[in-house]
Amino acid sequence: MSKNSNNNATNRKAIVSESAGWILTGGRVVDRTGERIADVAIAPDGTIAAVGVDLDLKALGLTKAPVLDVTGCVVSPGFVDIHTHLREPGREEAETIESGSRAAALGGYTAVVAMPNTEPTIDSVAVVRQVLDAGLAAGLCDVRSSASITLGREGDALSPMAELAAAGVRIFTDDGCGVQNDRLMRRALEYASGLPESVVLAQHCEVEALSHGGHMHEGEWSSRLGIPGIPAEAEELMVFRDIELARLTGARVHFLHLSTARSVELVRAAKRDGLPITAEVTPHHLSLDETRLTTFDTVFKVNPPLRSLADIAALRAGVVDGTIDALATDHAPHPRRDKELTLDQAPPGMLGLETALGVALGVLDVSLTQLVRIMSIHPAQIAGIADRHGRDIEPGAPANLVVFDPNATWQVVPESLASKSRNTPYVGMTLRGKVRHTIYNGEFSVFDGEAQR
Ligand code: DOR
Repeated sequence: MSKNSNNNATNRKAIVSESAGWILTGGRVVDRTGERIADVAIAPDGTIAAVGVDLDLKALGLTKAPVLDVTGCVVSPGFVDIHTHLREPGREEAETIESGSRAAALGGYTAVVAMPNTEPTIDSVAVVRQVLDAGLAAGLCDVRSSASITLGREGDALSPMAELAAAGVRIFTDDGCGVQNDRLMRRALEYASGLPESVVLAQHCEVEALSHGGHMHEGEWSSRLGIPGIPAEAEELMVFRDIELARLTGARVHFLHLSTARSVELVRAAKRDGLPITAEVTPHHLSLDETRLTTFDTVFKVNPPLRSLADIAALRAGVVDGTIDALATDHAPHPRRDKELTLDQAPPGMLGLETALGVALGVLDVSLTQLVRIMSIHPAQIAGIADRHGRDIEPGAPANLVVFDPNATWQVVPESLASKSRNTPYVGMTLRGKVRHTIYNGEFSVFDGEAQR
């Protein structure tokens, strides 16, 4: 951030912290109940005081509250990302909980769930507490912690799931890899379904015996380029297995970053059977195809890999018909040094938090209500935080909100991103849809496009 913009942020901070509540006027209020033009009054205690036209500010005790005109903007529950790699502890060169939560706030998120593939792995209450404390200290959004299904994500023994759930963990995952052992996965699901808390096992579906050594989608392009491929079946076999294990155990399963047409079809059929299954897709799997790797640019290396145009079409259709519940970023920062390695050596992953809204608006043919469903309401439910996030905008609800202009365009300049890493695949692209303000617990974490901390 330049000195100048720091000053601006400081000035804005003063305005924001002195305020006695806020009145947002003229916005398109979008939540589960639909869309309406209304003013939103936020009380000094961080809750929503009133929503409507011609609000009686005197009766609300908000005559001193500053008024912010948000005409033309959408006011919706803040976005929730259930799949964020914050890299802390252990890989703070790539991202910290503070820099990642700043990126999240700028992307319109009021809550994120940190993934456990850190160093050490998030597989103990001590590390969960460390993550939660750092999130609170950053104060830019609600940072929740997932934890691994198996100790050290090694796939051999279960993590202390009961203790971790008691410490607030609601999503268990070995993300970065899938649980390969069928028997252990069955035990994990049985154990999870017996816990007093409602938890979900989130699977990174990848059968390593099939994906091993691959760096891109297996198909015509991997053959032409001579790059070893990762077949769609590496994902689909595990999706199928876990659907059947959910059927067997009755436990909740969430599918992370689905990337193939057949995966969507399997989930669609499982939902038809009434199984307790949810699924997410990333902005990059909805927008970028395998041919991006013809340049051998490692920024496009990701796991699961970018797939075919037919897969992209099926993923989008899955969002439209509700088979896919959530958009999740899989924000995966990597330092330049690592991404500058050759394609076979470079780590997979790309940034996502600050570009998700613009990408989603650009590629998805959905209503704003449905966009809010997949970016806020459903992810909040999956993460077990629907008491504070993804709620209807109504009196008494915590003011966790995003205000975005769905028509504003902006160009992605990696150096301007808040993330500590630069590995965005959207460099130089113009996106439509810009976050103006993010309101977390009634305070602006982002004001006029600028992070407040
Ligand atoms: O591309 C990916 N990067 N996929 C994953 O599952 C893990 C992630 C990471 O941690 O970098």
